Amino acid sequence: MRHLLMAAAMAALSGTASAQDAAVGRAVAQTWCANCHTVEARPATAVDQVPGFAVIANRPGVTADGLRTFLSMPHARMPDLSLSRTDIDNAIAYLLSLRAK
Ligand code: HEC
Repeated sequence: MRHLLMAAAMAALSGTASAQDAAVGRAVAQTWCANCHTVEARPATAVDQVPGFAVIANRPGVTADGLRTFLSMPHARMPDLSLSRTDIDNAIAYLLSLRAK
């Protein structure tokens, strides 16, 4: 976990979006989002009540800005996550990395 936090701090300092952001964001998603969302790249099944991250990523018109706005407010019965902006940006980088090329 420690090296992931280090990577997050370094990414924040350099201010660049990189593949590392997505790796850190994956850990964020597994900690904070996986209770409800399928956060791995596997296809969602018909019984999923909550859209999986891969499904969200492949919706037309999904952008990092749109996701950032969405995630600036609580959704569903999401507990107050108190995620930092860096956590959110990394989670978004991870989510969008699931987009089919
Ligand atoms: C308590 C359960 C819960 C948790 C935890 C949760 N979500 Fe959600 N999320 C939902 C539900 C239910 C929906 C669909 C209904 C809605 O949009 O409110 C949703 C919808 C979304 C959407 C919009 C999908 C669309 O329809 O366009 C995004 C993006 C999203 N979640 C991201 C996240 C991220 C990132 C995290 C972790 C930081 C997270 N969620 C944590 C339950 C949850």
